[in-house]
Amino acid sequence: MNILVTGGAGFIGSHLVRRLVVQSGHYVVNLDALKYSGNRANTQDLDGHARYRFVHGDIADQPLVHSLLQEHEIEGVINAAAETHVDRSIVDPGSFAKTDVVGTGILLEEARRARVKRFLQVSTDEVYGSVEAGMSREEDVLAPRSPYSASKAGGDLLTLSYWTTYRFPVMVSRGSNTYGPNQYPEKFIPLFVTNALDDQPLPLYGDGRQRRDWLAVEDHCAAIERILLNGEPGEVYNVGGGNERENIAVAERLLALLGKPKSLVRLVEDRPGHDRRYAVDCRKINRMGWQPTVSFDAGLKATVDWYRQNESWWRPIKSGEFRAYYEAMYAQRLKEGLSASSSCGS
Ligand code: DAU
Repeated sequence: MNILVTGGAGFIGSHLVRRLVVQSGHYVVNLDALKYSGNRANTQDLDGHARYRFVHGDIADQPLVHSLLQEHEIEGVINAAAETHVDRSIVDPGSFAKTDVVGTGILLEEARRARVKRFLQVSTDEVYGSVEAGMSREEDVLAPRSPYSASKAGGDLLTLSYWTTYRFPVMVSRGSNTYGPNQYPEKFIPLFVTNALDDQPLPLYGDGRQRRDWLAVEDHCAAIERILLNGEPGEVYNVGGGNERENIAVAERLLALLGKPKSLVRLVEDRPGHDRRYAVDCRKINRMGWQPTVSFDAGLKATVDWYRQNESWWRPIKSGEFRAYYEAMYAQRLKEGLSASSSCGS
């Protein structure tokens, strides 16, 4: 299949592009705007491959998208381009609406006009909102609570409307918290691992008892490919790792793997509107033959080892754009800590 992957220089996108080209033998055009978290180094190994093209550009650039779809005779589109970080959406909500809703709309419309055969919108379990108990099903009413998740929900609904309205064959995947190599260090796991490697404090929000379901990036990419190829048009598919953990437990596990003391954990002021828990019911994609294959213990260890061995990847990031972001997001919080217990003991 000739596939256009957007956001293919990002974390999930780069793993996905490699899988599609090398493992599955597809022809892939990777369109990426190379914003702060897009990184050419993530797919450098593919440059020059006969079944791969990289194009620097935005999904909202209608003429560019139009010409790429024609020129490469694209049959499938996977939209993995997005603004993804909840904390950034709280300080800059506009860029999220722009990329995750408007950009998605432009890409969708061009794909429809080009009569692309299948379109997959890569979304998130966050669109269901915080789930105190039970599991979110694909048909649940959406209740996003951050500018990020609200923008993603907008993108999902717009995508699904193309099936109802035009019978344009779209699918939506809703993945849980994904982890692995090459993840930008603003996210919980790479931030905590790289901070710990430098003996810096790990800023754990609130009481650290929020729960997330951790999904290995390779399992997530396998699910995305399966949905693109075998999903039913107009359908949504939850994709979870089956590894629900409290944040504090993940932080302590990372520290144990690194041989660092628990006293590095610092409880800090919570994220506004912080969702307590996400959990997705994955029976629908299980019925399509997909199951996660990576155990959390093995996946976490491999991820920690990757960051340990690839300082040349993350050090330039942490000393560049990220530095000002970290300062603005964490300096005051870390100074103040959280009232009585500002650390979790050693
Ligand atoms: O659930 C899927 C979503 O997972 C994706 O759609 C998002 O793009 C991705 O960013 C992620 O969202 P989260 O907000 O859950 O991920 P994050 O890595 O920011 O945080 C994971 C948990 O750790 C969350 O409960 C907040 C907490 N946390 C995070 C950071 C960055 C901390 O306690 N301290 C931190 O410094």
